[in-house]
Formats: sequence, structure tokens, C-alpha cells
Amino acid sequence: MRTTFEITMKNVLVIGSTGQIGSELTMKIRREIPGSTVVAGYIPGAEPKGELLESGPAEIADVRDAAALADIVKRYRIDTIYNLAALLSAVAERKPLLAWDIQMNGLLNILEVARENNAAVFTPSSIGSFGPETPRVGTPQDTIQRPRSMYGVTKVATELLSDYYFHKYGVDTRSVRFPGLISNVTLPGGGTTDYAVEVYYAAVKGEEFVCPIAPGTYMDMMYMPDALKAAIDLMNADPSRLIHRNSFNIASMSFEPEQIFAKIREYIPGLRVRYEVDPVRQAIATSWPDSMDDSCARAEWDWKPVYDMDSMTRDMIDCLRKRYNNNNL
Ligand code: SER
Repeated sequence: MRTTFEITMKNVLVIGSTGQIGSELTMKIRREIPGSTVVAGYIPGAEPKGELLESGPAEIADVRDAAALADIVKRYRIDTIYNLAALLSAVAERKPLLAWDIQMNGLLNILEVARENNAAVFTPSSIGSFGPETPRVGTPQDTIQRPRSMYGVTKVATELLSDYYFHKYGVDTRSVRFPGLISNVTLPGGGTTDYAVEVYYAAVKGEEFVCPIAPGTYMDMMYMPDALKAAIDLMNADPSRLIHRNSFNIASMSFEPEQIFAKIREYIPGLRVRYEVDPVRQAIATSWPDSMDDSCARAEWDWKPVYDMDSMTRDMIDCLRKRYNNNNL
């Protein structure tokens, strides 16, 4: 695997730079690629602030505005686009037409701009791209993908359209199927896996946590540092080794609510939880894999996660406690 970012990434556009993944990915690339320019793309109402704003350029980058995207890509000579614009699964069920517009029409705009300007594109897929007929345990890389949620429909179509642009036009599209992502910088908004983030905030604040997902519901989850590593390593991987492109299963841990609560109680014994199951999110969760097989990512670009449930929990609590003590939670 190539290990120097300089070879493949110099001028990067992160679309959705103020979201759960974007806020951390933008900063990580800025820190780790000396001499790079990372443009923080955002939409009005979700402006970058603080370090994110001060450490590099920022531009309004609405995926639905093809002309504005083309202008940014040309002006900054962008070679790599991280397309992180999306409505998460529960919100997409409430606003399916908007989800389609952002996730599909937006993607088409990005792929066209990338084709015209020779840029690589990373658009995440998800455990949400699978459905009730998919094998749930050890979900293979190549298997049935018949999701029933609008989020899932757009993610499968994202995979197909991204592969289409690679095969037809040679656009360097690459992607991973993210599990539920657990992080402590920016809260996710409206996902099915968000409970596993929110419970940490409640635990550190000493608040009761109301869980919308039923006990016994397993889903793949991952700590954000591993997710960021995957997003960067894949775009930096030797293309001659890639048999797959859109999109790779990646996995690090799988748990059901009782297991993560028990793990948090090892460090915060007073955590209080009550269940109020949300039927929309529960139906989505039940249709998703319990645990994905990520052997293709391991073989083709040396994917390997660092964190497990215990090391993630210690780090989450540590980071959130610091923010809580600084009145920043
Ligand atoms: N975390 C996302 C969601 O729950 C899944 O990719 O919607």
C-alpha cells in the first residue's frame, strides 16, 4: 500500500465538512498532509466554526448546485472529493424526496464534475445498503442488497452509479460501507445507530437515557478514528490491488444495546436507561446486518481497525468528560 498522502491527495474538497464525519475528517487531512489544501464545503445554516473555519478555506458547496461545485473544483484544482452530504436513515424516511435529491441528484453532479476535472470521489455507503433478505451474520462483501428504506435505496444506487462512472469513464471512485459511527466531536443527526452515540453523552452528563432500539438488536458499529483511517487509507491505496471499489464492507465491532450499556457501566455504574422503542428506527435496524465480513477490505487495501468496544468506551468517556468539565457538552 502507498503510505504517503502526497502521491494521491493534494487539494481536497470535503462536502458536508460540518457534519459528524466531515468535521473530523477535514481536520485530520489538514493536519496529516503537509502542503495540502482542504476546502471545507458546507451549506448555509451549517457554517464551519472555530478551528475548522480558521485552519483552512471554506466554501458553500451544496451538492444540488452543479455550477458552484464546478467552480470550487476548478478554482482549487481539487483532486479528491469526499462527498459526505446525506440525510441519515430515520430522517430520510420522513423526507424521502429530499433524501433522493441530495443523495442521487447530488451524487450525479459530483460525478460529472469529477469526470470533467479528473478528480477522485469517495461517497460513503453503509450497513443501510442491505435489507431483510441479506445474510445477517458474516454478511458477505458481494450479496443480496434489497433495502426497504429510502436511505438504503440511495446507498445501493450510490454504489452502482459510482461503479458505473469508474467502468465507463475511468473516474477514480472508491467507497466503504460504514457501520454505525460512534464519535464525540459532532453529533450525528437522525440515524438508526445514533443511540450508541447519545448514550455516552447521557452517561457523562448523568442523565437518564431513553433508548429507541430494542434490546437484542445487533448492529455493526465503529469508532470514528477507525472510520477516518478507512476513508483516507482507501483513497490512498494502490489501485492495482482493488478488485472491488464501490463499496467495501468494513467492520470492527457488533453489539446490541444491553452490551454497550453494560460496557459503559463498567466505567459509569450509575448509567440509567429506559426503553421507548421507535417503530421506524426499529424496523430499519432489524433489516440491517448483525455483523459484516470485511475480508475483502483487509485483503485489497490492508484494512484493520484499532478500536474495540472497551478501548472505544474508555476514550469516549475520557473525551466527553473533558468537554463536560469545560462546559462544552
Ligand atoms: N448511521 C447511519 C444511520 O443510522 C447508517 O449508516 O442512518
